[in-house]
Amino acid sequence: MTDKTTTAKAHTNIALIKYWGKKDKILNLPTTSSLSLTLDEFYTETMVTAGKEDTLLINNMMQDPTRIHNFLDFLREEIEDFGPLTVVSKNTVPTAAGLASSASSFAALTAAVARYQNWDLSLTDLSRLARRGSGSATRSFFPGFAVWHEGHDNQSSFAEALPATDLPIALVVCEIAGTVKKVSSSDGMLRAMTSPKYSEWVEQSHVQFTAMQEAIANQDLHKIGELAEENALAMHELNITATDRRFTYFNQMTLDVLDFVKALRAEGFLAYATIDAGPNVKIITNQNQAETIKDKLQEKFRKLRLQIATPGPGISFED
Ligand code: DP6
Repeated sequence: MTDKTTTAKAHTNIALIKYWGKKDKILNLPTTSSLSLTLDEFYTETMVTAGKEDTLLINNMMQDPTRIHNFLDFLREEIEDFGPLTVVSKNTVPTAAGLASSASSFAALTAAVARYQNWDLSLTDLSRLARRGSGSATRSFFPGFAVWHEGHDNQSSFAEALPATDLPIALVVCEIAGTVKKVSSSDGMLRAMTSPKYSEWVEQSHVQFTAMQEAIANQDLHKIGELAEENALAMHELNITATDRRFTYFNQMTLDVLDFVKALRAEGFLAYATIDAGPNVKIITNQNQAETIKDKLQEKFRKLRLQIATPGPGISFED
């Protein structure tokens, strides 16, 4: 055993066009292509080193290692065998923020192991591997906007960065305490796929995916927000209309904040909402208006925990 360690840092991402359904559960192929923004403020830093068995510590607390152990076993089979690893992660994604911490976690873990093992892999290769740990991790290797091509097999389902832009986009992240029972993303999307509206959502999502790339190329923040909100609300409609165990991630506060976002728009603000697998709302706006929107929200909803997030970098290493 050596003392060698390798550390990788991956930022989380928020999907503006969501991944919400799998067409192949083993390969983790999504039913639609998705598009995300990597965020500066939230990241996972993961160090790997040899250990006696696969173990996981997050923010100095021992965790159930089952999910990462299964993923490490997948890497051992897929690329090359290696011994047990101790995985030590520092996570700045607030636990209850409803931001996909699995995105930054699996991206950082994949990158750290690949470097630890001296595998000569491109970011595209890494994104393909991370996909098997968690779909949203596929997109967390890239700075700014990234697309995950749904693909039709292992090789064709990967993510890549969109051309860099200096679009002054910002997100006001509203952390709403969850009162509803948690449904994991994997389970949630399986249920959503039983909605009679599912195939319509997939079709609409294909159109929105293309329109979103155009809006980004045109630096049209209004259009970006509008498309993201439409896509997210339609995704959540699938959950309510599922025929197998319908559910919702929303609570009353989620609805109140959504109303507030609409009212902000009526006042002339650039403000659109997106929501993932939890009750929290992220407001898409521009960097000029983010502080004012945050203050207005705080005044109206005293209990909300608010944070402003801006575009973040791709994967990085520390040795
Ligand atoms: C709503 O990536 O957590 O955040 O692949 O089953 O691990 P698994 O799902 P996960 O799902 C994320 C869903 C989402 C939308 C998105 O990030 O695209």
